Amino acid sequence: MNESNVIEKIECYVKELFEDDVTGHDYFHMRRVARQARELAEQEGADSFLAEAAGWLHDIGDAKLFNDPTHAKKVMNDYLKELNVPAGRIADIEAAIEDVSFSKGNVPDSLEGRIVQDADRLDAIGAIGIARTFAFGGAKGQLIYDEQQGRTSIQHFYDKLLKLKEKMNTNAAREIALERHEFMENYLRQFYREWHTE
Ligand code: ADP
Ligand code: NI
Repeated sequence: MNESNVIEKIECYVKELFEDDVTGHDYFHMRRVARQARELAEQEGADSFLAEAAGWLHDIGDAKLFNDPTHAKKVMNDYLKELNVPAGRIADIEAAIEDVSFSKGNVPDSLEGRIVQDADRLDAIGAIGIARTFAFGGAKGQLIYDEQQGRTSIQHFYDKLLKLKEKMNTNAAREIALERHEFMENYLRQFYREWHTE
C-alpha cells in the first residue's frame, strides 16, 4: 500500500460522495478536516496517515447525511479493501471515525480519533463555523434569529459552538479554538448591535 496514493483515491471518493451537500458537510469540509487532522497528528506525534484518512472519511455513515448509514460504511470498507489497505489499518480508520460526532458526546479511544474529533470541531467554530451554521440552518428551513423562539441558527451558537473550546482533546487544537472562540464572541456582539439597528 502506498499511503499517498491511497489518500489521493480517498479524496476522489469523498469528492463524489459529498459534492452536492449544501448543509455545511460538503467536500471542502472533509478536506479541511483531513488537512487539520494531519497537521494536529504531526504536532501530537500521532499516526498522520491514519488521522488524515479518518479525517477525509469521518462523516461517512452519519445518520444525518445518509439514508442508509450501514450500507454507506460497508461501501467505504469495500473501497478501502480494493485499495489494498491492510485489514488492520481499515479497522483502525473505522475505529477512529466511530466516536467522532459531537452529537454522540463520546471521547474516541484512539489518539487519532481524538484528533479527528478536534479537527471536526475546529471546523464548526470561527469564521468557517459561522458560515456552516447559517448554511445548515438555511438548508433545514431554520430562521437566522428570532427573539421569541430558540430553534434558530443564532441559538446554535449557545447550544454548541461556544461550548467547543472547552471540549478540545489536544493542546494544539485548544490553542486554535481560543482564537476562533473570541472571533465568534465578537461576531455575536456585532450581530446584536446591527439587529437592534445600533
Ligand atoms: P456532528 O456532525 O459532529 O454530529 P453536527 O452535525 O451537529 O455535529 O454539526 C455539524 C455542523 O452542522 C455544525 O458545526 C453546524 O455548523 C451545523 N449544525 C448542526 N446543527 C445545527 C443547528 N441546529 N443549527 C445550525 N447549524 C447546525
Ligand atoms: Ni464533520
